[in-house]
Amino acid sequence: MEIKITKTTAPKQKPDEHNLPFGTYMTDHMFVMHYDTDQGGWHDPEIKPYGPIELLPACSVFHYAQECFEGMKAYRTDEGKVQLFRPMENVRRMNTSCERLCIPELPEDVMYNAIKTLVTVDEEWVPHLPGTSLYIRPFVFGTENYVGLRIPDHYLCMIICCPVGNYYKEGINPVKIIIEERDVRAVRGGTGYTKAGANYAISMRAENVAERSGYTQVLWLDGVHRKYIEEVGSMNVMFKIAGKVVTPALEGSVLPGITRKSCIEVMKSWGLAVEERHISIDELMECIKNGTLEEAWGTGTAAVVSPIGVLNYEGKEYTVGSGGIGEVTQRLYDELTGIQWGKRPDPFGWTDPVC
Ligand code: COI
Repeated sequence: MEIKITKTTAPKQKPDEHNLPFGTYMTDHMFVMHYDTDQGGWHDPEIKPYGPIELLPACSVFHYAQECFEGMKAYRTDEGKVQLFRPMENVRRMNTSCERLCIPELPEDVMYNAIKTLVTVDEEWVPHLPGTSLYIRPFVFGTENYVGLRIPDHYLCMIICCPVGNYYKEGINPVKIIIEERDVRAVRGGTGYTKAGANYAISMRAENVAERSGYTQVLWLDGVHRKYIEEVGSMNVMFKIAGKVVTPALEGSVLPGITRKSCIEVMKSWGLAVEERHISIDELMECIKNGTLEEAWGTGTAAVVSPIGVLNYEGKEYTVGSGGIGEVTQRLYDELTGIQWGKRPDPFGWTDPVC
């Protein structure tokens, strides 16, 4: 399928790269593709000026939240070139989400081409300053004008982009996390392993309480036993315990993060032991008390690698390790960001040049 391109005649002013908030300034263009069962599926992929879309109030996504998305970034290298990081991982994961939500499978070659073409069209929006990048947000949702519950025959897939700086105001500095005891994010058999927008909607209440109490994010426990650690806010979580790295196994309720997977591969290449397994809150508390919890950090596209300095459990604060940035956390951050921005060799072949 060929992507039709219509360029804007009124390019917007670009924001100051020194003060780039996350997710606020959209670029000049967007990608749109329609799905209609009676037109044979996905059709008419198009890149056009960023702007409003028209939906009727009966549009199915407003009622049943049949939507999923992805998050990825384009990075500017010191040579002025632009590159992506493992883009096909995002394209494939989006289809995993679509399958769970009964959204028709997206043509992977078209999505990959759309991401690259959109970044090329909006190339001037990829910021230059260290630590900045172009965040890319593909998303897809049901657009049937019908208020009953059934699998729609109409969908819209879009990609928008925005230049971004740090996700957390703390940057690479350690964040404070509170262990959530009331709400749960996901259960096995649900949508925890997908990037369904609804997963993020149901996390807002706990995140909001946490933020109002001075914490950056919450640490989610499993939805059945309220015992096993799952993820932290919008990131996967990893712990260094007595020299070994431990991270919750992927068993259906945890997002299979691309940064998570990359960190595991990098750490294994360093010869570090990495265990993907159940880790209970009791085990974690025991490790804090006996001094074997050396480091904790979150991993995600938006936040990259984010050290956890303080954990709050049952109203009590515990310092993780020294409370600063742990050695493995810093090493991982340097290695991943080094590969992403083209400052370090890419022995894994993860970067993908765009323009
Ligand atoms: C990402 O890390 O890309 C995400 O999708 C998380 C989102 C809350 C910004």
